[in-house]
Amino acid sequence: MDVKNIKKISIENKIPILRDQSADFIAKILIEKNINSILEIGSGMGYSSVFFLSRKPDLKIVSIEKDKDRWSFCSENIKNKNITFINECAFSFLINQKYDCIFLDGPKSKQKELFEKYSEFLNEDGYIIIDNIFLKFIKQTKNSKSLLKKSEDFKLYLNELTKWEVSIIDIEDGIAICKRK
Ligand SMILES: C[S@@+](CC[C@H](N)C(=O)[O-])C[C@H]1O[C@@H](n2cnc3c(N)ncnc32)[C@H](O)[C@@H]1O
Repeated sequence: MDVKNIKKISIENKIPILRDQSADFIAKILIEKNINSILEIGSGMGYSSVFFLSRKPDLKIVSIEKDKDRWSFCSENIKNKNITFINECAFSFLINQKYDCIFLDGPKSKQKELFEKYSEFLNEDGYIIIDNIFLKFIKQTKNSKSLLKKSEDFKLYLNELTKWEVSIIDIEDGIAICKRK
């Protein structure tokens, strides 16, 4: 299935996907920095993975998704030898290799925990890229206030990291690009 169709199906199923300018911006980084391998947390319906591969076809992507139906959709409909979809929770997933890039696009309430866990599995010169740093577009629910507070705390946490260079890019919902100093 191609990028256009996956995007359409994701929108129809109300699965949040990487926004257009953000997707372009990240794809440019992947190309400029010659990223060869990505671990993605949060496959959704596979849109971001397929988009990145459409821009850099030699990328090797491993993408983790906890929702069984979404994972089945990806596995059945996206046939590309360079993508592996895994049905696992990011917090229990056992990793056995390092990657050039970790793309965090999973649960927005536990970004710090994910950052801490997955930074161990980043190659020395690699990048951690995080979407939805601002959470500008979240719906007002009983949990949204607490989520926004966690998001503010996470931004402070990123800005206070002394061993990392962190750039917060003001595109759409905000992207953080993190690299070890
Ligand atoms: C924003 S969507 C991902 C969108 C996708 N990256 C794209 O742009 O097409 C976030 C996904 O993270 C998944 N997710 C949430 N918590 C997770 C967890 N603990 N482990 C793995 N995936 C998780 C959700 O089920 C959802 O499909």
